[in-house]
Amino acid sequence: MRFSSVLLSLLIGSASAEEYLIRFKSPDGFQFFMNSAKDHTKNFKEFFHNKISHTFSFGSFRGITVDISQDVVEKIRNNPLVADLVPNIQFKAFDDVLGVQELQQNYHGDNLDDEDGFNPFKVKVQGEAPRHLARLSRRAPLPYEFDDELRYEESFNYYYYKWHKGRNINAYIIDTGIYKEHKDFCGRAIFGRDFTGEGPGDRNGHGTHVAGIVGSSNFGVAKKVNLIEVKALNNRGQGNLTTVISAVEFAVNHCKSSGKKGCVANLSLGAVRNSVINQAIKAAHEAGLIIVVAAGNSNINACWNSPASAPEAITVGAFDDRTDTIAKFSNWGPCVDIFASGVKVKSLSAFPPHKPIAFSGTSMASPSVTGLVAILLDKGVEPENIKAKLVELATHDLLQRRTLFFKPGTPNRIAFNGMEREDDEYDDAVYPIVDLESLVQELQNYQPPPLEVNNKDGKFDIINFKDDSPLPMGTIDLTKRKILSPGEEN
Ligand SMILES: *[C@@H]1O[C@H](CO)[C@@H](O)[C@H](O)[C@H]1NC(C)=O
Ligand SMILES: *[C@@H]1O[C@H](CO)[C@@H](O)[C@H](O)[C@H]1NC(C)=O
Repeated sequence: MRFSSVLLSLLIGSASAEEYLIRFKSPDGFQFFMNSAKDHTKNFKEFFHNKISHTFSFGSFRGITVDISQDVVEKIRNNPLVADLVPNIQFKAFDDVLGVQELQQNYHGDNLDDEDGFNPFKVKVQGEAPRHLARLSRRAPLPYEFDDELRYEESFNYYYYKWHKGRNINAYIIDTGIYKEHKDFCGRAIFGRDFTGEGPGDRNGHGTHVAGIVGSSNFGVAKKVNLIEVKALNNRGQGNLTTVISAVEFAVNHCKSSGKKGCVANLSLGAVRNSVINQAIKAAHEAGLIIVVAAGNSNINACWNSPASAPEAITVGAFDDRTDTIAKFSNWGPCVDIFASGVKVKSLSAFPPHKPIAFSGTSMASPSVTGLVAILLDKGVEPENIKAKLVELATHDLLQRRTLFFKPGTPNRIAFNGMEREDDEYDDAVYPIVDLESLVQELQNYQPPPLEVNNKDGKFDIINFKDDSPLPMGTIDLTKRKILSPGEEN
């Protein structure tokens, strides 16, 4: 169902587009192409005069956005200098998926901003921290009571490196803009560039919320990072291939000229898999910009989306830190690198009275990782080692295994910042209980059915499946209330 609706939107997008993005195989190829003859009267440079709306040049990426008719498209398509020729498709923000929740309580975390004063330890603590921060700095689950949602509200700490808070790192928020005047940004959010024509500022709310998770003082992971507003999506959360690649280009070039220690960009947007955006991510990566992207909110394989499928991107899925399960909406699969809290994540509101607000989505998970990348860059991890470092630090195998059923190739990895602390375990906590009976029922009703489900004294062996997509996952032991991997003993 989901897949067909994705295809449908692609068809609508391409039918109405007259703007195309052409990517050239090499910098030289671009020049050769422009000087080559379109026909016996003119070369392409003359023919495209006034038709080119954008020229891209960053790293190895060379391209143009140009207004052309179908017959010219057909003529150019097979030119050996042309790598890609695609319509200027629409992108959209991975919107909040569960509805907005405005929070009544006011946050009054520690005063985080002075790092002076003697402290023999390298660790700083934010009390009354929001859950996504608390979870990033511990491996154990956080307790939650569905019957009393406020029970643990103010009881969590966020531990972070006192001397590595992202100072001298630029985080490019490629999104709907940022309400930079919010006092929680402490002046660290600055205008970069607007590609939507709306001008600076956030008229949607998405970008401000994201930026708040990356680096605001009460909701942010990296409390000293520079947040750069790069507006590629408008007030409806929409952009297109040109605005998004322009934003990536801006981030690459701005980063290079800023003399900062490191740069990270966060994209919370997506479209169907697209080689041009994936190549742009590759070129940006080669130029030293770390790109963190949201996996998407369609409960499909993230490899079907761009930029989530770009191998050089760090692709972040959402998990529900109340139950330690993959969020129902999150995309999954081998293109996801890591999971972070993405359900009811609290951050800043772009709109008066600027009360904190909770959003859900992979867009809320990826900025936690963006903030963590800023911290690792600040600690001196080399850009090419960042992804491996995230994976090394991650908490492995803690997401409830049942949520990995039917999600083949999905890594069981939760982002973790490396703070080993044991002092806020919750002995009396009510941890979520795995509902194994409903999982077994789900498996038995699954279409097409698994090849074989052996039921031996309450142990369900999932042997294999008739199609390739679901995952053969081992044994569900109802008596011991465990799920065992293939080959694993009780
Ligand atoms: C892409 O977005 C820009 C900025 O909003 C707009 O000017 C342009 O018309 C858009 N192009 C298409 C094909 O949607
Ligand atoms: C980071 O990316 C996520 C998902 O791609 C997006 O929702 C969020 O707005 C982005 N944040 C920044 C700061 O760019």
